[in-house]
Amino acid sequence: MISTWAIRLIVICAGISLVAGVGNDDFVDACFGVEGDKPPHCEYIDFDDVFESSDIKFNWSFITKLTISNKRIIGIPTRMFESLPNLESFVVVNSLFYREIDPNSFVDCHKLEHVEITGTNVTFLDSHLFPKTPKLKHLLFHHNKIREIKYDAFEFLVDLEELNLSYNNISRIPSGAFHKQKNLKTLDLNHNHLLLLSFDSWFPVDGIHSLAYLDASYNELIELSWSEITVKKVNLKYNNLTNIHINGNCSELHASYNMIESVTVGSNCSIEKLYLAHNHIGSFGDLRKCSDTLRTLDVSFNILQRQFDFLGMKQLTALNVECTNLTLQYTTLHDLRKLRFLDISYNNLKKIDFENLTSQRLLERLMISGNPIGNMSIGSIKRNFPNLKALGIYDLPWNESSLSVAIEDLKKHDIKPYIKNDYLFEESQCPLKITRNFSGNGDDHEESADLIHGSSGDKTIEYIVIVLLVAVICGLLFKVFVDSRYYRELFKDRLRGSSISHESLVSCDLNG
Ligand SMILES: *[C@@H]1O[C@H](CO)[C@@H](O)[C@H](O)[C@H]1NC(C)=O
Ligand SMILES: *[C@@H]1O[C@H](CO)[C@@H](O)[C@H](O)[C@H]1NC(C)=O
Ligand SMILES: *[C@@H]1O[C@H](CO)[C@@H](O)[C@H](O)[C@H]1NC(C)=O
Ligand SMILES: *[C@@H]1O[C@H](CO)[C@@H](O)[C@H](O)[C@H]1NC(C)=O
Ligand SMILES: *[C@@H]1O[C@H](CO)[C@@H](O)[C@H](O)[C@H]1NC(C)=O
Ligand SMILES: *[C@@H]1O[C@H](CO)[C@@H](O)[C@H](O)[C@H]1NC(C)=O
Ligand SMILES: *[C@@H]1O[C@H](CO)[C@@H](O)[C@H](O)[C@H]1NC(C)=O
Ligand SMILES: *[C@@H]1O[C@H](CO)[C@@H](O)[C@H](O)[C@H]1NC(C)=O
Ligand SMILES: *[C@@H]1O[C@H](CO)[C@@H](O)[C@H](O)[C@H]1NC(C)=O
Ligand SMILES: *[C@@H]1O[C@H](CO)[C@@H](O)[C@H](O)[C@H]1NC(C)=O
Ligand SMILES: *[C@@H]1O[C@H](CO)[C@@H](O)[C@H](O)[C@H]1NC(C)=O
Ligand SMILES: *[C@@H]1O[C@H](CO)[C@@H](O)[C@H](O)[C@H]1NC(C)=O
Repeated sequence: MISTWAIRLIVICAGISLVAGVGNDDFVDACFGVEGDKPPHCEYIDFDDVFESSDIKFNWSFITKLTISNKRIIGIPTRMFESLPNLESFVVVNSLFYREIDPNSFVDCHKLEHVEITGTNVTFLDSHLFPKTPKLKHLLFHHNKIREIKYDAFEFLVDLEELNLSYNNISRIPSGAFHKQKNLKTLDLNHNHLLLLSFDSWFPVDGIHSLAYLDASYNELIELSWSEITVKKVNLKYNNLTNIHINGNCSELHASYNMIESVTVGSNCSIEKLYLAHNHIGSFGDLRKCSDTLRTLDVSFNILQRQFDFLGMKQLTALNVECTNLTLQYTTLHDLRKLRFLDISYNNLKKIDFENLTSQRLLERLMISGNPIGNMSIGSIKRNFPNLKALGIYDLPWNESSLSVAIEDLKKHDIKPYIKNDYLFEESQCPLKITRNFSGNGDDHEESADLIHGSSGDKTIEYIVIVLLVAVICGLLFKVFVDSRYYRELFKDRLRGSSISHESLVSCDLNG
């Protein structure tokens, strides 16, 4: 009996950190399944009890969920969980690992479905990770320091549905890495340093038909090798792509904030929502091939070199052409009879010929901010857009009196005026932005600027509150820092007095 406990203790000690946690948290959160007539329940287990007392009040084999946070951990060693046959979920948060993850952890954890190791300093995913966890579906490794993944790391995880590698330091994923993931539904790679999205070589040759969401935003992608974009929703925002070829049955693609100069469309386009804002696209002509399906299009902040119209794109319900150098002619938006949202801000439009925009009977929100429009009849807006509920009118060259007349007028017509930019805190970066010049005197200028940018008094209070909060947080962090140093010393002394296992003492030395 004593010897089995000793073995178990060594196994567990080897696995879970023995060295003190940060702050007051010395507990492991464990959930237990049905045990005799005891119903399932969760409780905090004191680390010290686990490792130092021989009087353990529970049976490990009933544990279904284990959550470890703020600990220092000697890796997850081989065979750690032999004694946890019912484990379904294993979570480590904000902890330090003294060794990389041992791929042979979780031997015979036939019920393990969810592994989450996040906020640790692991850097490496070795070959053949967790070979005996046939039920593993969710593998979450976000917010670590992973920079290397072996090509066969996920070889045995054939039932994986979700893999989250976001917020790591990955610059390359070897080809073949996801060859066996035929059931993968979600792959998250955002906030890494990937240069190539080699989709065709990462996934099985015959394509992967289960993947529904791929996020590779916030990387340094310069190239996609992806012949047919067959993933329903794809996020490639904030990369360094210079061109994009749309083909396949993807229905939502985010590629804003890249350096895209050309967009081409293959023979098959099923895109419904396309976001291409903040690129260097000179012409969107090829997008007409998507006109049967395209409903939302954001091409804002791309400066058009030629006159462009949206003829034929009849399914569009939302169109953002802010800051595109668009000129409005009779044909420009004529076919967009389903449009409900239209942003034509910052296009250097001197007047808006509403008579030329009569087909948008369903329009609900219209943004015309930042254009040098001198004069506008609210009555004619209402006539042309009977459903209009909001009109964006900030950054217009109007003096205070004409702005307040317009606002009154809009309210009379049940139209909400947007008089400041709700989306951005800073001023528009549009190169087409007009320098504001009011026909009135200087006083008008200042007053209307205040009106436009909201009350500055409120802002000051907000700033004070933010500064106070930051101060409090800094104080707390400092306290935690001091505490953790203190606890470390304290625990080291305690460890020296007790004999737990060889490994724990090694980790203690490492810690020192
Ligand atoms: C824990 O429970 C399992 C399953 O009921 C049993 O086989 C095992 O002997 C128990 N272990 C201890 C130490 O009580
Ligand atoms: C994690 O950080 C600790 C302390 O800085 C260090 O000793 C350890 O080697 C690191 N672990 C890995 C896997 O890099
Ligand atoms: C992956 O983890 C990050 C960080 O917690 C989270 O923001 C993101 O939503 C996760 N991805 C998915 C697809 O759930
Ligand atoms: C990321 O990895 C590179 C090497 O690939 C290394 O030089 C760098 O320090 C790592 N960054 C972090 C934050 O770990
Ligand atoms: C996308 O196309 C592939 C074949 O190319 C097909 O297997 C898959 O079911 C399609 N996905 C959707 C959502 O239509
Ligand atoms: C990607 O773009 C950013 C911002 O423009 C730049 O700083 C970085 O050097 C680029 N990286 C590559 C690999 O081109
Ligand atoms: C386009 O889709 C159809 C069916 O949706 C398919 O038969 C055809 O092969 C696809 N064409 C290309 C070039 O992928
Ligand atoms: C805007 O478009 C016109 C032609 O419509 C072109 O002459 C002009 O150079 C463009 N402006 C910018 C900033 O590219
Ligand atoms: C409508 O656009 C045409 C050119 O496309 C222009 O000649 C005409 O003046 C515009 N009509 C109105 C009422 O502004
Ligand atoms: C302002 O609009 C009114 C009516 O819409 C028009 O009569 C007047 O000429 C316009 N003034 C300027 C300066 O465009
Ligand atoms: C505003 O316009 C007036 C005349 O229209 C001009 O004299 C003045 O210099 C302009 N002010 C600015 C700041 O551009
Ligand atoms: C404000 O502008 C309107 C039209 O642009 C003009 O009629 C009016 O005199 C101006 N008001 C002041 C106080 O300058």
